[in-house]
Amino acid sequence: MRFDDRVAVVSGGANGIGWATVERMLDEGARVAVLDREPETAVRRLAERGVDAAASDSRAAVFACDILDAASVDAAVAGALERFGRIDVLASVAGGDHGNDDELDEEYWNEIVSLNLHGPVRLIRACRAALIESRGAIVMVGSVNGIAAWGEPAYAAAKSGLTLVAKNLAVSLGPLGVRVNVVAPGTVRTRIWDTQNSPDALIALYPLGRVGEPADIAAAIAFLASDEASWITGVTLPVDGGGLAGPRIAFKTLLGP
Ligand SMILES: NC(=O)c1ccc[n+]([C@@H]2O[C@H](COP(=O)([O-])OP(=O)(O)OC[C@H]3O[C@@H](n4cnc5c(N)ncnc54)[C@H](O)[C@@H]3O)[C@@H](O)[C@H]2O)c1
Repeated sequence: MRFDDRVAVVSGGANGIGWATVERMLDEGARVAVLDREPETAVRRLAERGVDAAASDSRAAVFACDILDAASVDAAVAGALERFGRIDVLASVAGGDHGNDDELDEEYWNEIVSLNLHGPVRLIRACRAALIESRGAIVMVGSVNGIAAWGEPAYAAAKSGLTLVAKNLAVSLGPLGVRVNVVAPGTVRTRIWDTQNSPDALIALYPLGRVGEPADIAAAIAFLASDEASWITGVTLPVDGGGLAGPRIAFKTLLGP
């Protein structure tokens, strides 16, 4: 129970990796504020776990929030603070990419960078004072796309930016007791793959022979947010089944006998 008496704010907590993080935090004793632009989904999932998000004494509460909008983020974080009185963990998970015919399109870049780079910064700004007070931890979700050329340059640039946000804030907030890290997932089985090919089509990229599950990423987020990582800050941790180490497919296969 690494998060007994602690409060976690999880953006993007209604689905996928964010929901797995909410479940993990609840399982380990935290009280959780779920911030998402699909609040009704989070309320439903919590109800399925027997948690009534509307009850004033429940261990989880849901706040409608659009991380593209600073005022919306500020209001949601203020709501979380009013409800729980403190913030020990910020798990910034909300983000994503939908591709674009022109990978350099101006409007597309503004949208994707605002969501994946500015969005986490808006969340950190809103939570900063509370995290300093609690000597808390920030974990942002990046991507392998932010480390090597796996495609989607706007998304890659935004996710890559999180690495330097984490390093710089690790330096400025470290003396105040706040740690800042990034988890960089490879392919993870979430709804983002529902409309495309099965994620299993990418297994050849992964030496460990499978794609990731949301719980794989939630485990790493929980580790970096916990006291077990109390001397780790400013890092970007790939959680990618070895994908960045090298593809599963052997050179011999491509070269033939
Ligand atoms: N699934 C993957 O293969 C994969 C790989 C690498 C990184 N990631 C990253 O993991 C994170 C979670 O992705 P996922 O696969 O779980 O996706 P998902 O669609 O299952 O969940 C994303 C959640 O974020 C919320 N969200 C999206 N935009 C938002 C906004 N503007 N304001 C508030 N909430 C918003 C959605 O409503 C949703 O609940 C993203 O940052 C994504 O870039 C995913």
